[in-house]
Amino acid sequence: MNVPILVTGGAGFIGSHACKTLSARGYLPISVDNLSRGHTSAVKWGPLEVGDLRDIIFLKNVFSRYQPVAVMHFAAFAYVSESMKNPSLYHDNNVGGAETLINVIRETPCKYFVFSSSCTVYGDPKVIPIAEEHPRYPVNPYGEGKHHIEKYLVQANQEWGLHSVSLRYFNAAGADPEGEIGESHDPETHAIPCALIAAAKRQPFAINGTNYSTPDGTCVRDYVHVSDLADAHAKALNYLTNGGQTEAFNLGTGNGSSVRDVIQAVKDVTGRSVQVVEAPRRAGDPAVLIAAAERAGSILDWSPRFKDLQTQVQHAWNWLSKTYG
Ligand SMILES: NC(=O)c1ccc[n+]([C@@H]2O[C@H](COP(=O)([O-])OP(=O)(O)OC[C@H]3O[C@@H](n4cnc5c(N)ncnc54)[C@H](O)[C@@H]3O)[C@@H](O)[C@H]2O)c1
Repeated sequence: MNVPILVTGGAGFIGSHACKTLSARGYLPISVDNLSRGHTSAVKWGPLEVGDLRDIIFLKNVFSRYQPVAVMHFAAFAYVSESMKNPSLYHDNNVGGAETLINVIRETPCKYFVFSSSCTVYGDPKVIPIAEEHPRYPVNPYGEGKHHIEKYLVQANQEWGLHSVSLRYFNAAGADPEGEIGESHDPETHAIPCALIAAAKRQPFAINGTNYSTPDGTCVRDYVHVSDLADAHAKALNYLTNGGQTEAFNLGTGNGSSVRDVIQAVKDVTGRSVQVVEAPRRAGDPAVLIAAAERAGSILDWSPRFKDLQTQVQHAWNWLSKTYG
């Protein structure tokens, strides 16, 4: 029988790609999702248990039925701007959900945990590229929640032996290269799908801030392919089951792309124009976020396969064009 792994948020963008990767490597991914922002149609490689992470009875029941050997925890709300407007929503769902889950795990034999953290734990970077040792001073409630959960995991390791890996993703991008799953958020806020949808629907695309101190004045981000993130999760699981200690790793390519680079890639891939509107900066957007991800390379043996922005945009377009093409 395939080894069961509990995947919270398995109906979401990154979680569903992790399920595909886990299944290909001989695991049985069990998705736990309340479907608040995910899709039943994205769950294709194992069972889906519909419920909320803050529901202790539901969680205990899932653990006792499937006996997972590890948990991959993706389930969360994931919008910085929404967290600025509604911090308590983020505290209740993201921090409350993770703490409830970790407390339930304590009562089970499961001792491995892989956590979807984020580069937002660093706040406004003092040094680029950003390494794991960079001070962590998050500047929004979303990042504060991620930072809090990372610390809670370190305590769980010290107190009762939960071994965990926190994966600090930079900007997730792309879609399954085989086209089986992809990004479907409503509303969509990520730059690549927003620019693709704008091109497809011939709607304006807003650049938030054109006067940053970057080469073309727009924000620079490190886009990392969702299938490479999924691969890093499988490698983190391998690391933990082979005795790896509780640790945090950046996941990025080390390449920076500006919003104008994204727009150019969208034009090249779709062959369509993008009508740009220059809008003011958004609060809490650092000018540049680029990862130093050598630690994941040397310790997890992870190296991203799809580093090129054009390829990431092409895969996202292959998926989105089914709806918007
Ligand atoms: N997308 C990115 O660029 C990015 C970057 C850094 C970190 N992350 C983190 O990666 C994880 C996955 O992100 P995503 O882009 O796939 O988001 P997503 O919204 O597509 O997926 C999250 C899933 O979690 C589910 N969920 C949310 N709260 C829940 C709860 N209380 N109980 C049960 N299910 C719940 C949602 O229904 C959804 O299916 C999140 O933790 C996010 O913070 C994402």
